Amino acid sequence: HAIEGLGKKDKKLNPKWFYDNEGSKIFEQITRLDEYYVTRTEIDILKENQDEISNYIGEHATIIEPGAGASEKIKILIQSLKKPELYVPSDISETYIKDVAKKLEKALPNIKIEPWAFDFQSNEKIPNHIYEKKNLTTFFPGSTIGNFEPSDAINFLKKVKNQFCSDKIVIGVDLIKEKEILEKAYNDGLGITSKFNKNILRRMNKELNANFNLDFFKHDAVFNEKKSRIEMHLVSQKKQHVNIGQTSFLFHDQEIIHTESSYKYSLDTFKNLAKDAGWSVAKIWVDKNKLFSVQFLTHQ
Ligand code: AVJ
Repeated sequence: HAIEGLGKKDKKLNPKWFYDNEGSKIFEQITRLDEYYVTRTEIDILKENQDEISNYIGEHATIIEPGAGASEKIKILIQSLKKPELYVPSDISETYIKDVAKKLEKALPNIKIEPWAFDFQSNEKIPNHIYEKKNLTTFFPGSTIGNFEPSDAINFLKKVKNQFCSDKIVIGVDLIKEKEILEKAYNDGLGITSKFNKNILRRMNKELNANFNLDFFKHDAVFNEKKSRIEMHLVSQKKQHVNIGQTSFLFHDQEIIHTESSYKYSLDTFKNLAKDAGWSVAKIWVDKNKLFSVQFLTHQ
């Protein structure tokens, strides 16, 4: 349950709760911020290396995209490919992913699209008629892998082989860089990331009948160098009680709710993580400033 993590000594919330309708719109604004280099850099890398990426994937590919929704990157990828066979957008919610598929049909007129509702917690395998296709390739952009604890990232990469039955992945991996650049990307001048972070409180007010006062929590994002991750926090600005439904929670002055971790990798640390999940890094594309990487992994 969403609020389980608020009863613990170190309060935390799962970042997946950011993304209701409003949160997804705010994230969309984040992707266009000057400070948030992630999205535009990855898009530039995908555009600049279309031919090479296409050669690595090969012909007649079926592309599976867990957490699909945005069209810009998949559009670039599909347009790069030679004779792509099928696109499989995937998400836990069946109504959501069917909706996404319908919208993407307009953006991607030249490829067959088949949505697949997949629950990450399950042991479910990709449907048989997709399994039988050739050249199953998973596309996982956006540095979403960075939201996972390293052990969960390894589990995810194992799932790609065992359940998506892919032996190729094109994955976006954000890189370690100067602390100032990293922290600015998550502390933008316009306060959009703050709004995104606090949206989780707004959402609990709306959906769980809570009474968080958003002004009494402060957004903060710090780079934890030891763990190589950006940590997003909401910091209580005073001692306060908040009700969520029937339950009351105490927040001390300056007490932190940890709302998101965004792991940053070096090429080496990511190579080792992939290896622990049975994958080899076959090719890495980076931008000229070495801010971000798109990597092509194959299963050993
Ligand atoms: C969607 C997980 C890639 O970690 O950079 C952006 C989410 N959080 N600003 C990231 C996010 C705050 C983002 N990912």
